[in-house]
Amino acid sequence: MWDFMITGSNGLLGGFLIPHLRERGYRVLATGRGPCRLPAGWFDDRVVYHSLDITDGKAVWDFVGRYRPVRIIHAAAITQADDCERDPIGCWSVNVTATRFLLHAASAAGAAFTYVSTDFVFDGESGPYLESDLPGPVNFYGSSKLAAERAVAASGLAWSIVRTVLVYGRSDHQARSNIMTWVRDNLAAGRKIRVVDDQVRTPTWAGDLARGTLLVAESNAGGIWHISGADALTPYEMAVRTARFLGMDDSLMTRVTADSFTQPARRPLRTGFIIDKARRDLGYQPVSFEEGLWLTLGDRSSGGQ
Ligand SMILES: NC(=O)c1ccc[n+]([C@@H]2O[C@H](COP(=O)([O-])OP(=O)(O)OC[C@H]3O[C@@H](n4cnc5c(N)ncnc54)[C@H](OP(=O)(O)O)[C@@H]3O)[C@@H](O)[C@H]2O)c1
Repeated sequence: MWDFMITGSNGLLGGFLIPHLRERGYRVLATGRGPCRLPAGWFDDRVVYHSLDITDGKAVWDFVGRYRPVRIIHAAAITQADDCERDPIGCWSVNVTATRFLLHAASAAGAAFTYVSTDFVFDGESGPYLESDLPGPVNFYGSSKLAAERAVAASGLAWSIVRTVLVYGRSDHQARSNIMTWVRDNLAAGRKIRVVDDQVRTPTWAGDLARGTLLVAESNAGGIWHISGADALTPYEMAVRTARFLGMDDSLMTRVTADSFTQPARRPLRTGFIIDKARRDLGYQPVSFEEGLWLTLGDRSSGGQ
């Protein structure tokens, strides 16, 4: 019997979720597009990896039907908002159509379903947001994630949706940067950076997101859950704190407004989450941004996975 099937295992969240599930003794089907990029030491007969392109409906149907996982945590997505704006068809195929393939297969197998979603379902006019607030995406990525949320909620399955915000964490197995590494690398190279100071987010340590997602799944708590950090910060404030943490000179940083950048996808201005429901009902307790800095950029012996 397989307790969990995970999509997007090679991604940032997957790199925290797979070892967390493993530590807790679960039998896990980790899946990802293409070959496994996670450390080989994480896998044995209880935690296995399979390549699975979720846009291949037949492959999804066959896989879920064959292994019949008790719960699917669906984390795979095209996650870069600008990529979604440039390639809306590709974005829709992964973020919406493939989610429908997974829901269809989960229905036949009787699997419970946890979908990982985003603060970008909101318009950013009145954050921080509660689970009950009305979505209104301002870009194609947000629209695709909201469409997938609606498919999940209409599926008739035992479903939950975990929304999160600006995820960061140390990820030795992938090249992906985050705001902390971006600041560190630019300041270390003596490069000037312009950082937005009129957007607000509640940045989330990937370890907290993994724990929070599992809390939702283990408690069979249905419905929507906001799982993020607790500190509401602008990217500029995050950058200043990062420079300070590293003892680096922040004079290379200039504070700018979001409208000084021309990016393909518009960003919601003020998001971030109110996480009282998860704290109260699940005992969810995220680290502070300073602790997150330490876990991400601090000494490797800190156990900051
Ligand atoms: N990161 C954030 O700041 C953030 C914020 C809010 C919400 N979220 C949500 O959280 C979830 C996890 O995000 P993340 O940060 O872990 O994202 P990520 O690092 O970009 O990982 C997403 C994974 O999805 C996989 N994927 C894409 N297309 C696929 C396909 N056709 N078949 C199978 N796998 C496919 C990618 O595989 P490849 O690596 O092979 O391309 C990638 O490993 C996503 O649903 C995202 O929308 C993330």
